[in-house]
Amino acid sequence: MKTTEFSSSSSPSDRRVGALLRHLTAGTDSPSTDRLSSVIASPTSEVSSGSVFAHLVQAPEDPILGMTIAYNKDPSPIKLNLGIGAYRTEEGKPLVLNVVRKAEQQLINDSSRVKEYLPIVGLFLSDWWFFTYAWLSPAIRENRRTIYITQPTWANHPKISTLEQAGLSVKTYHYYDPSTRGLNFQGLLEDIGDAPPGSIVLLHACAHNPTGVDPTLEQWEQIRKLMRSKGLMPFFDSAYQGFASGSLDTDAKPIRMFVAYGGECLVAQSYAKNMGLYGERRDTGRVESQLKLVIRPMYSNPPIHGASIMAVILRDRNLFNEWTLELKAMADHIISMRKQLFEAHIIKQIGMFTFTGLNSAQVSFMTKEYHVYMTSDGRISMAGLSSKTVPHLADSIHAAVTKHV
Ligand SMILES: Cc1ncc(COP(=O)(O)O)c(C=O)c1O
Repeated sequence: MKTTEFSSSSSPSDRRVGALLRHLTAGTDSPSTDRLSSVIASPTSEVSSGSVFAHLVQAPEDPILGMTIAYNKDPSPIKLNLGIGAYRTEEGKPLVLNVVRKAEQQLINDSSRVKEYLPIVGLFLSDWWFFTYAWLSPAIRENRRTIYITQPTWANHPKISTLEQAGLSVKTYHYYDPSTRGLNFQGLLEDIGDAPPGSIVLLHACAHNPTGVDPTLEQWEQIRKLMRSKGLMPFFDSAYQGFASGSLDTDAKPIRMFVAYGGECLVAQSYAKNMGLYGERRDTGRVESQLKLVIRPMYSNPPIHGASIMAVILRDRNLFNEWTLELKAMADHIISMRKQLFEAHIIKQIGMFTFTGLNSAQVSFMTKEYHVYMTSDGRISMAGLSSKTVPHLADSIHAAVTKHV
């Protein structure tokens, strides 16, 4: 059987298949072409080793999602999962918003709805927000651009930026100052000021993940002016709109400030958290046409349900207003958990996450002894707490800190 060569001149989809094959077979000892042929070998060919999947290596779990698997296996009745940024009720259960239930009911009752393929880019809600991905321009594809991300940032940011299709080189800019548990604004300005013109700067629109530290509006204005004067491209990741302050408008101010002065920017908007649609994925002129080229050989046609729920809520004034109230209630709950778990630095931070300052040894002590799950950098999701579980968390932090683990 002839194996396909995935040279640099092959098409993007060939290169993606090549990357996938390399990923699947990574870690085996045989030369790369052998590895490819062993995966592609037909089950009917005379392969003495048996299964064509024999050489596959176990891929590592995602650190955050893997923690949930460990949490699910833990039989302890007092276990607490603070690792994942998903909202939980006082009973520790996932919440489906009333507006989402109503929107789903409307969709079920609508007999004109059919199960046809969507357009490739899905239900593109351009009247509300636009989605775009930065890796589509030739300058980016040819690896001529750098993306600057905050130090630290959401663990997926560097992975997304260096994906084969994105091909961006990634640098970090100063953001968090552990000594003040606040923003290192001077370091941020210096690093952004040194970025070459045309670079992309990834900005968390609000409720920075993982630190929970945001610039003030005055600081945003300085960042905006500096980026404009240096010719840098802002790329806002807006994953928590409404969760920092409880208001969609207040949390959108940094982006609106950049747009108001006529600057172009890229925005990736998520409704996973603020509409509680974690499992309902949705997808997104010229940018759109490029996007289609990427999508067609990848997953071809987008999922419809989550996007339809969003469309119903965003286009119906009453449902929209009800959503803002439910969102405010979720944000208020998170803020109140923060107050109950009072520690000066926790109150100072905002949004879904908090950096506790616990080290990885203390975190593993808390998981082992107290069944409290969080990422090894000491980040906890405030949304995973309830009035009932705050005392348990406080006890476990106390034990971890006083035992000097
Ligand atoms: C900063 C940031 N961006 C994006 C996302 C992902 O959002 P979505 O669930 O829509 O993929 C997350 C969620 O974990 C996040 O923290």
